[in-house]
Amino acid sequence: MMNKDDKAVEFIRDSTVKSFNVHELRDLFPILGQHVNDKPLVYLDNAATTQKPFSVIRSLESFYERFNSNVHRALYTLGEEATQAFEDSREKARQFINASSRSEVIFTRGTTESVNLVASSFGETVVNAGDNVIVSQMEHHSNLVPWQILCEKRNAELRFIPVDSNGNLKIDSLDDLISERTRLLSVTYVSNSLGTINPVKKIIEKAHSRGVPVMIDAAQAAPHLKIDVADTDCDFLALSGHKVYGPTGIGILYGKENLLEMMPPYQSGGEMIKEVKFSGALYNELPYKFEAGTPNIADAVALKPAFEFVENTGFDMISEHENSLLLLATELLKDVEGIRIIGTSKEKVSVLSFVISGTHPYDAGALLDQMGIAVRTGFHCTQPLLQEVYGLNGTIRASFAIYNTADEVTYFADCVRRARNMLA
Ligand code: ALA
Repeated sequence: MMNKDDKAVEFIRDSTVKSFNVHELRDLFPILGQHVNDKPLVYLDNAATTQKPFSVIRSLESFYERFNSNVHRALYTLGEEATQAFEDSREKARQFINASSRSEVIFTRGTTESVNLVASSFGETVVNAGDNVIVSQMEHHSNLVPWQILCEKRNAELRFIPVDSNGNLKIDSLDDLISERTRLLSVTYVSNSLGTINPVKKIIEKAHSRGVPVMIDAAQAAPHLKIDVADTDCDFLALSGHKVYGPTGIGILYGKENLLEMMPPYQSGGEMIKEVKFSGALYNELPYKFEAGTPNIADAVALKPAFEFVENTGFDMISEHENSLLLLATELLKDVEGIRIIGTSKEKVSVLSFVISGTHPYDAGALLDQMGIAVRTGFHCTQPLLQEVYGLNGTIRASFAIYNTADEVTYFADCVRRARNMLA
């Protein structure tokens, strides 16, 4: 009989998976079978981090059991094998986002580090006193604070694309926001707290028509939508492995080669140099110029099975299944007295944020935890959006992934109703 490990390998190898059975797919995720507070775990905090399939877990194990050695340094066999696995994963990442060259794919710690790299290296090169940078009001703190710091340092202005009451960006405002002095626009593809899918292609077209480069924060988009840097024509793009069924502490930064070439290194040390003399250093070629020090090798290698898991499941199936869960949850919660859904755009991924009138999100979250349900409560790292735009002290956020079931959603809605009755 096939064990779960074999099934995971089989699943990854079979690129022709056509039918979708959520219960079979759940078997690939060992964590999902457990009980929490004596109740079956219902994990609905996938926007914070996704669970990992066996193939990713086994990749991490096998790296340390079989390949562990440093990359790009060793001439011995083990070092060559580790380097090959590391570069294979970069190639998979390149395909996953449809970049034209591996030189444009930099391994980072995740989206946060990718944004910091661009803000620091590109930002400090092109932004000067009197210039401006544009973000939106729905940015995660990771695509906001680095730009605040840059603008403060440079005496530049940070401008915001406003959000309407449904959670849509008012992109017509770009006509006025973009000026001769706009040096970069950085915007999220998908809102982590509202679920809105932003029309990034349109935004990029508008920005490019005025000569402004665009960075896309794809952290929340990558598990749900096909990322295509060639089609969107973005200049930079960031994503995190752990939101796409991969490990924490690893992510990628995509940048157009001509921009990466003109940017100074972000960090310095080993690996990012070609030649060093006492008088100075010659930097390495892309992408290594931006990968100083020993990288997070094992986690980078395990990105490959994570991307393969997503690709083999297929974005059509992911959208179909997750949309059906979102629809069901929205319908069920609409009937619960005192519930207000925050983020009602027509274009949404499977994120459902809501408040229960007269209660604090933390109290409902604690009650749901007792019922075995993991949801996130609070500002979700978008404090200005929730506090200053919506006037809230946070929301309760359920975010659904490919392995969640309709039964879990029904149970969740029932528990929300019970929590509301207990708190009312
Ligand atoms: N960015 C993650 C979230 O939205 C942590 O929860």
